[in-house]
Amino acid sequence: MEKAWLPEIISNENINLRPISWKSIAQDAENVVKWAGDSDVRDALRYFSFFHNGATLDRQLEYFCKIIESRNDHIFVIGFKSGEFLGTCGLHDIDWVNNNLRIGIIIFNKNYWRQGYGTSSLNLLLGFAFGKLGMNKVYLTARADNDLAIHIYEKFGFKREGVMRDEYRVEGGRYIDLLRMSILKSEWK
Ligand SMILES: CC(C)(COP(=O)(O)OP(=O)(O)OC[C@H]1O[C@@H](n2cnc3c(N)ncnc32)[C@H](O)[C@@H]1OP(=O)(O)O)[C@@H](O)C(=O)NCCC(=O)NCCS
Repeated sequence: MEKAWLPEIISNENINLRPISWKSIAQDAENVVKWAGDSDVRDALRYFSFFHNGATLDRQLEYFCKIIESRNDHIFVIGFKSGEFLGTCGLHDIDWVNNNLRIGIIIFNKNYWRQGYGTSSLNLLLGFAFGKLGMNKVYLTARADNDLAIHIYEKFGFKREGVMRDEYRVEGGRYIDLLRMSILKSEWK
């Protein structure tokens, strides 16, 4: 599937967001599976049903294939200029009629948690969505107790739109809400 809207790379002085492709898919899937298998990363991601039982190469490849073939989604690998893998971020469910899309970010490489790379990736992703893609609205969902992520989103101007009650079953079998947050192009600085 040719996606005319896909850039070769989105970058700033520190990091690159590189779209996954047929050429890179094997290496990209391997990196995700390697880090998703780390015990700390696994704990952080356990509440996503996709990662609940750990990641497998087959399932990750199947997911990436689907993304590459999708007209309205894409995943970027977040990495240093050296090529070192940091994580992934994505544009999903792009609505070309109403000009909105959903984003997601995961810094898989725990050696670089809380060093500004989530913020930096979000900045690049929003710039691309509002700039090149001409979107009017970007939204996401976050676990209601993910204070770190919510802090970053609010710093950018995301607003809380609503609550999906008891969306995830988490540690100890309790349920937790999912927040939907969004930012409009007019709010993007
Ligand atoms: C959430 C995630 C993307 C953040 O990326 P990161 O690179 O670790 O975060 P950053 O270093 O960019 O941001 C750190 C900011 O959070 C703040 N912060 C750190 N811990 C915090 C906490 N417990 N509560 C609130 N804010 C916190 C820091 O002070 C800093 O804020 P500042 O920039 O205003 O000083 C990353 O941790 C991750 O991938 N986590 C697992 C997957 C996930 O939860 N993805 C998001 C799904 S919604």
